[in-house]
Amino acid sequence: MQRRNLMLFRSIRFKFSVVVLFLLGITTLSFLVFTLQSVEHDFTGEAVAMAETMGRSAAASAAYSLLSGDMLGLDSVVSRMKASHINIDSVAILDNSMKAVAHSDLNKRGETILPGPGRLLSIDRYGSVTERSNGRLQVLAPVSVFGRRMGYALLEVDGALLRRARQSAEKSVFKGLAVAAVLGILGVFLLTTSVTGPIKELSAGVLELKAGRKKRLKVYSRDELGQLTRNFNEMSALIIEQKDRLAGYAGELEESYVSTLRVLAAAIDARDPYTLGHSARVAQLSLKIGHALCLPEKELEDLEVACLFHDVGKIKTPDYVLLKPGRLSDVEFREMARHTEDGTNILEKAPSLVKYIPAVRHHHEWYNGKGYPDGLSGDRIPRHAAIISIADSFDAMTSTRPYRNPRSEDEALEEIVRCSGTQFDPRFVEIFVKVFRNEHEGIMLSGLI
Ligand SMILES: [Fe+2]
Repeated sequence: MQRRNLMLFRSIRFKFSVVVLFLLGITTLSFLVFTLQSVEHDFTGEAVAMAETMGRSAAASAAYSLLSGDMLGLDSVVSRMKASHINIDSVAILDNSMKAVAHSDLNKRGETILPGPGRLLSIDRYGSVTERSNGRLQVLAPVSVFGRRMGYALLEVDGALLRRARQSAEKSVFKGLAVAAVLGILGVFLLTTSVTGPIKELSAGVLELKAGRKKRLKVYSRDELGQLTRNFNEMSALIIEQKDRLAGYAGELEESYVSTLRVLAAAIDARDPYTLGHSARVAQLSLKIGHALCLPEKELEDLEVACLFHDVGKIKTPDYVLLKPGRLSDVEFREMARHTEDGTNILEKAPSLVKYIPAVRHHHEWYNGKGYPDGLSGDRIPRHAAIISIADSFDAMTSTRPYRNPRSEDEALEEIVRCSGTQFDPRFVEIFVKVFRNEHEGIMLSGLI
């Protein structure tokens, strides 16, 4: 589970999604801040403009009444201004000493009214607009006649309607952004799928190619990834084709190699006319034992080549020993016995032949440990060497020698059985006897191990 989570965090899809979502978040946040600031500015500007208009209107209306001291006229101006807009809370006309000469609230007439503190939103020669802490806008507009300052018009405007309009606009902005965010996430999903889909397909294709199998990948698009997939398909087809061709060459090389070995073995056997064809016959007999043991095909091939090579060391055995028509002296025997080690030295020269050394070196070992060159016994004797030992002895006994007549196959088989457990591995002797007898009785052998 932890590994799966780790793979998820390391996946291109995850990294791609994080980057795109991060960028989407930054963009959305920036857009949100910009939009809210814009809305705030627009609505504030609209409110200030409306308040300025109201203030100027009140100041203009009150100018001549204030100049002539027409209190009824001022009351009329105040009443009309108060009634002109639902958002106007109060209207006052002040003289130059800030004393209310007219007020929409009659109780405040005659009071000195100073503009309250707040955030100054605008100011020019026509007056100022201030936002109070209670959200109301306070407008102070000078009343002038022919350039002479007569007093001020002071208005309190309720900002509730503006605030509600502003909040409504903000809600609309948030809804729009929420929809944009959902669409953005959906877009990220589709985008990552369209990018990671072909990459996953390519990854699977590489694994198949690595395993030596050909897999034609599905091309999802006509963009760079689609082109990459098409190129991969062409490349994998080429690799598989070349691999098949190389396998064919390897097979031909293997056949050529085995043919060369057969020629070499025949050349070695031909040094002694009495052993002509010996290695090939040993291979035939050994393979019969190998088949009866149900050895794998590859091991049977190795066993056959090992048989062809088993006496390769005799290429260094002097003629006076190899071709001696009588029994060998002890010195001559030791000279002859060296062919197992000489064979080892010859095979060591070629890395591809090293695997045959155990069979070649030990095919004269005895099961009881009294053979040569290393005195191995029992299971320590390599299997191929133990099999070749039986086949080699059987063929030697049934072949003509200058100093003796060949033994019959039955006699040779009897000798093999007699030496079971001393010279030969009893398990392979038992198999060999069964193979030999079944062949003579014409019965196919099956299921022997
Ligand atoms: Fe030998």
